Amino acid sequence: MPLVTTTEMFKKAYEGGYAIGAFNVNNMEIVQAITEAANELRSPIILQCSAGARKYAKHAYLVHLVQAALEDTDIPIALHLDHGADFEICKSCIDGGFTSVMYDGSALPYEENIKIAKQVAEYAHDKGVVVEAELGTLAGIEDDVVVEHGAESYTQPEQVEDFVTRTGVDSLAIAIGTSHGAYKFKPGQKPQLRFDILDEVSKRLPGFPIVLHGASSVLPKYVDIINANGGKMEDAIGIPEDMLRQAARSAVCKINIDSDLRLGLTAGIREHMMAHPDHFDPRQYLTDGRAYVKEVVAHKIKTVLGSEGKA
Ligand code: G3H
Ligand code: 13P
Ligand code: ZN
Repeated sequence: MPLVTTTEMFKKAYEGGYAIGAFNVNNMEIVQAITEAANELRSPIILQCSAGARKYAKHAYLVHLVQAALEDTDIPIALHLDHGADFEICKSCIDGGFTSVMYDGSALPYEENIKIAKQVAEYAHDKGVVVEAELGTLAGIEDDVVVEHGAESYTQPEQVEDFVTRTGVDSLAIAIGTSHGAYKFKPGQKPQLRFDILDEVSKRLPGFPIVLHGASSVLPKYVDIINANGGKMEDAIGIPEDMLRQAARSAVCKINIDSDLRLGLTAGIREHMMAHPDHFDPRQYLTDGRAYVKEVVAHKIKTVLGSEGKA
């Protein structure tokens, strides 16, 4: 099956009370792990690439890795640009084979965000590509942009109808307390999400797909393996899985996961290297890293997303 857009995926997810996992990909092992897990559980998936991934792996390698995944399975797969910072990067991915792009103007003044999101949506729609935009800012780090905890801002529900109508975007990422990276909450802080904002947004945009970024749970199993094998991660706290499941049952149709994949890969590699200090064949330690990434993705599909059997 060729790459699909997210239109059909989101429609079914909205109606079915589940969400599609959007998993960040940076190399072959990660693409393989996600695809194999999703294939076995018959789940649709979004494979997404950040600007950092394109810089690391190069656009053509990523597109061809995803093409290879399509040959390996018949589940629906969308290829998405994560956090496109300007029109040019969105255009480059639209022209370069992606079926979905995010234009992230969330840090810009409202009118500026609208202006560029609209420009991206017009260009994308002309080529059959869909667009995600964002209102509100998340704390954490993505690429070179660092938003300190405390400097984030929740989405203002009273802006969403105006934003979506004037831009013509196909989905909207909102800020309700999730954040990027492994350190989402401070030690002793109770993880909380603003479901009241999500409810208000969904009331104002009936049937419209909502996206959650920064939605890794920072699974303790992999943090513990990392720390038991020479790593040093302290007080890594993520989004509780029951809250994500609750979000997936509502208007949230896309849940972004990167940090949990990074933890799985690192845990597998560290565990392997500590057990076999004499190994230096990447195929050996990457096999173990890949196996944990696959385990993470399977866990997400079953526990958080609810997308098993929906392919
Ligand atoms: O939201 C950000 C993603 O985790 C991608 O991270 O920009 O370091 O590739 P990256
Ligand atoms: P995490 O850092 O919580 O995995 O979020 C990833 C993300 O939002 C990618 O856009
Ligand atoms: Zn993100």
